[in-house]
Amino acid sequence: MHDLNDIRDRFPGVGGDWARFDGPAGTQVVDVAIDASAAWQRSGNNANSHGSFAAAAACDDLVETVSATMGELLGAEPDSMVFGPSTTANMMALTRAIGRGLGPGDEIVCTTLDHDSNVAPWLLLARDTGATVRMAELDPDTGRLAAESVIDLVGPATRWVAVTGSSNAVGAIPDVAAVTAAAHRAGARVVVDGVHLTPHRGVDVAAIGCDVFTTSSYKWYGPHAGIMCVEPGLLEELDAYKVRPAPESGPGRLQYGTPSWEALAGVDAAARFLLETGMDVIAAHEAIRFARLLDGLHGIEAVRVVGPADTADRAPTLMFEVEGLAPLTVAERLAAAGVAVWDGHNYAVEAMAPLGLDSEAGAVRAGVSLYTTDDEVDHLLDAVGHIAGSG
Ligand SMILES: Cc1ncc(COP(=O)(O)O)c(C=O)c1O
Repeated sequence: MHDLNDIRDRFPGVGGDWARFDGPAGTQVVDVAIDASAAWQRSGNNANSHGSFAAAAACDDLVETVSATMGELLGAEPDSMVFGPSTTANMMALTRAIGRGLGPGDEIVCTTLDHDSNVAPWLLLARDTGATVRMAELDPDTGRLAAESVIDLVGPATRWVAVTGSSNAVGAIPDVAAVTAAAHRAGARVVVDGVHLTPHRGVDVAAIGCDVFTTSSYKWYGPHAGIMCVEPGLLEELDAYKVRPAPESGPGRLQYGTPSWEALAGVDAAARFLLETGMDVIAAHEAIRFARLLDGLHGIEAVRVVGPADTADRAPTLMFEVEGLAPLTVAERLAAAGVAVWDGHNYAVEAMAPLGLDSEAGAVRAGVSLYTTDDEVDHLLDAVGHIAGSG
């Protein structure tokens, strides 16, 4: 196995006075991605696509390169890659196009484990078309989403199933391949929200079999961008909302305006970095830090870890509460101790009630990233122990 102990040096934004456990909301950027974005902007290639001069050809080449790299990272066709500003924006574009073919009697299955970017666009679609959204429930006892709870809601009226690849709140990884197979047997299409899965696991979209897979590169050490992989046949079928000169076929149908070339250059470099480091190596490295974090929190009496109690089928992300203290207070006290965490629902709006949490206050969320060290985990645990002890 690679030794990743020096990997931290690849992240100029990491270190100093802060232990960063806020990776699930966005990681620090890897050196090669920073350099690639800057190099693009210095290159003179900033132009637009399909022109007759060299810089325009360089823009086309960049799209081809980053599409191929994303295809390699996700195990998907390069010509399925739609580039947008964020996954939320991509989902709004996708669902708006899907909506033109939906009506009363059609059903969409969403889940309570999902980030709202894979729920709200479907609810809006249902409002506008008369279709119905059915919610698959996560198991409050385990904090996990059983494939059966989704599959049980799939029937002849189901047109779309929208399910997370991994919870951005508690890390749980549902069996999306099983969900996809069942949905396809029923004639439904599947969107997998891969935003929280991609930084932590090797992804193989072809093996999952889903029709759409979304990811955001700022969660995996790259710049802010959303990449949506749409099965090429579906891409052609969708009745996209688009400006008239935009392409009639291919990813350009769902891309709104000129992409951020500098971001695409960084996306390519960040994806290459993941491929070169190896997703299995990354997962194994993170698992050690995460087990230390989870065990340590379980050992603090006044702490309740929310969601799954173990590390199986799970990204290295958890939520916890400290008895008698609001999550915001805990986050503020941790910040005073140099530990960066998020509190609240973290946009996993539907998950809060089943997890036994207040819908707004939520809980404290801590995530392990590739650059997290054992010392930082111990720092967090000491600080939480102190906060819990002082009430
Ligand atoms: C699981 C998950 N899905 C979707 C999103 C939305 O991504 P974006 O900010 O690119 O819209 C996030 C962001 O936190 C997320 O964690």
